[in-house]
Amino acid sequence: MIKAFIFDLDGVLTDTAEYHYRAWKRLADEEGLPFTRGDNERLRGISRRDSLMLILKDRVYPEEEIQAMLARKNGYYLEFIKGISPRDLLPGAKELLEEIRAAGLKSAIGSASQNAGEVIDRLGLRLLLNAISDGHSVEQPKPAPDLFLHAATQLGLPPAECVVVEDAAAGIEAAKAGGFRTVGLGPRQRVGRAEVVAPSLTGVHLGDLLAALTCRL
Ligand code: BG6
Ligand code: MG
Repeated sequence: MIKAFIFDLDGVLTDTAEYHYRAWKRLADEEGLPFTRGDNERLRGISRRDSLMLILKDRVYPEEEIQAMLARKNGYYLEFIKGISPRDLLPGAKELLEEIRAAGLKSAIGSASQNAGEVIDRLGLRLLLNAISDGHSVEQPKPAPDLFLHAATQLGLPPAECVVVEDAAAGIEAAKAGGFRTVGLGPRQRVGRAEVVAPSLTGVHLGDLLAALTCRL
């Protein structure tokens, strides 16, 4: 029995994945570090610090320089998200959240971002959500299941009754490790380990998802 959906935020409900890319790209260019859109794909769903470590590769920096780079990247990101409004919701996202609410099911956010609250407010989503778990909620980042388990606890539901909707390989692994049902958005080489895969939420309705997940039982 499915009673709730836990949505990742960046790259699922809105395309902030692009702003994370531009902010990392600016930092990498300033530091003379190679960083491409292809490299950025590996950062989806990965915490801020782990992302920087992947960009730095085996280069060693003192901790205070690492902290300064993390703060600089976040400053650039905050500049980018200042302009976000409900127009930046990805197609199908608001409709699906409204269908979930109308059907008496619950919705939550499970985002690794410490900026998730601000993005949710700018998108005008807060009133459609029953719980928000974000980059401040748990210590262990995805692919550990902790963030989604935190969301399920807030919803008062066992993982098996919650569907995680994710665009990142690390997010699908986190959900599977926690015993959640899974929907992956994006190419199969990225989210193919999910039970149900779709290119995006465009044209995806609650009934389709419930039917596809039920077939998989
Ligand atoms: C995830 C993004 O949602 O949040 C990652 O997919 C990002 O790209 C992570 O690094 C942490 O976000 P923030 O806003 O705390 O730096
Ligand atoms: Mg994401």
